[in-house]
Amino acid sequence: MSEKKKTILSLMQPSGEVSLGNYLGALKNWQRLSLEYNCIYAIADLHTLTVRQQPEDKRRCSREVLALFIALGLDKGENLVFAQSHVSAHAELAWVLNCFTYMGELNRMTQFKDKSARHADNINAGLFTYPCLMAADILLYQADLVPVGEDQRQHLEITRDIAERFNNIYGDVFTIPEAYIGKTGARIMGLQEPTRKMSKSESANANNIILLSDDLKQTANKIKRAVTDSDNSVKADPEKPGITNLLNIYCAVSGKNIAEAEKEFEGVGYGAFKAAVADAVCEELRPVKEEYERVLKDKAYVDSVMKNGAERANRLAYRTLGKVYKKVGLLPRL
Ligand code: TYM
Repeated sequence: MSEKKKTILSLMQPSGEVSLGNYLGALKNWQRLSLEYNCIYAIADLHTLTVRQQPEDKRRCSREVLALFIALGLDKGENLVFAQSHVSAHAELAWVLNCFTYMGELNRMTQFKDKSARHADNINAGLFTYPCLMAADILLYQADLVPVGEDQRQHLEITRDIAERFNNIYGDVFTIPEAYIGKTGARIMGLQEPTRKMSKSESANANNIILLSDDLKQTANKIKRAVTDSDNSVKADPEKPGITNLLNIYCAVSGKNIAEAEKEFEGVGYGAFKAAVADAVCEELRPVKEEYERVLKDKAYVDSVMKNGAERANRLAYRTLGKVYKKVGLLPRL
């Protein structure tokens, strides 16, 4: 990897189908950044073990998400794409970081509180120490910038705290990473419940969430059925969460800012506005879906990217892990 460019890193859980929230909050930025920086993108398959899923489904989702990464060109040039579980340094560093993280800090994580409320029958230790594994993912590669959606901000903050604590004791071992959160698209809300984030685990109603696997007719219909209000003016306003969400989606897709979009739809009724958002989203997703379908069929190619990515990631990760083991006083491997 080129030494001068900054390192960008991010992971996505292959815990189900990819949503428009994942795409606009994360993948679209990953793709944009992939042209300019050293990029490392992986599926967070170890993280998915915190919630029970059929092994076959997990394997299928993992392949699908890797194929999507490749379809978006995230593996181009020197960039890396791989599966977290193929680089054992992630789990090894996570253990060390567990010993530098306080229970009180982990107790404050809103995602832990939410997930344990939703999975009350399975509040496992992995769910609790999840941020330590995430910190390991980031710190192993000395990442400068981590493009994520708004819901991951707190996890980035705890990663920085852990890294700073470790550096204060042992010297400059870790780069302190920064979150990269886009101005639009960072928090896509449910289409039927626009006060809650668009998320597969919170979408009992299929119309609440757009999946990349939906056909484009379905996508357009879901947008046309999105909850709005009775005001009929296309303005971003906390009192109008449905319209604000659609404006946000439109901006994330078109690259316009909210003021520009509001101006464009001045005097336009909700029906026409929704149709315009639906068109923009479908045009955005069409080429992605086509390329994804093509890549998914090419099993050998997906395997080769995954294998090559893991080999190179292992080399990078073990450099940092070796340094950490030495600093904390573990015996050198002979
Ligand atoms: P995950 O798999 O839940 O989500 C992947 C990415 O999608 C973003 N995202 C959203 N953005 C906008 N609106 C939404 N409704 C929405 N839903 C999801 C997430 O913010 C994320 O960027 N813990 C992480 C995975 C992870 C990771 C890491 C990320 C593991 N290790 C290291 C960065 C660095 C997660 O569960 O994301």
